Amino acid sequence: MVATAQGIAAGRVNSGAKGMIIGVLNKKGGVGKTTIAINLGAVIAKARNRVLLVDADPQGSALTWSAAREADPIFPVVGMAKPGISG
Ligand SMILES: Nc1ncnc2c1ncn2[C@@H]1O[C@H](COP(=O)(O)OP(=O)(O)O)[C@@H](O)[C@H]1O
Ligand SMILES: [Mg+2]
Repeated sequence: MVATAQGIAAGRVNSGAKGMIIGVLNKKGGVGKTTIAINLGAVIAKARNRVLLVDADPQGSALTWSAAREADPIFPVVGMAKPGISG
């Protein structure tokens, strides 16, 4: 299934599809990856689709914001295991 930007914005990502992985990728920092990922997730979840946001950036901003949220989460956010042992 091909998702159009308009379809994603309207939360229409599951018509006929069992699921979809949307990657928000850019090597450069500060270009809006986290903002786009969170807002895409929110729009898609509010259209009654199940959403899991995987924050693969070691910076973990989406994970931090999700943890800081006081209200119930609209969708879960998980992080990636970090290599190495500290402490
Ligand atoms: N469309 C936008 N218009 C204006 N500012 C934006 C927009 N998208 C993101 N920002 C701002 O730009 C900064 C970097 O965004 P962020 O999503 O954290 O980038 P990244 O995840 O790529 O590092 C943040 O302060 C964010 O609020
Ligand atoms: Mg980010």
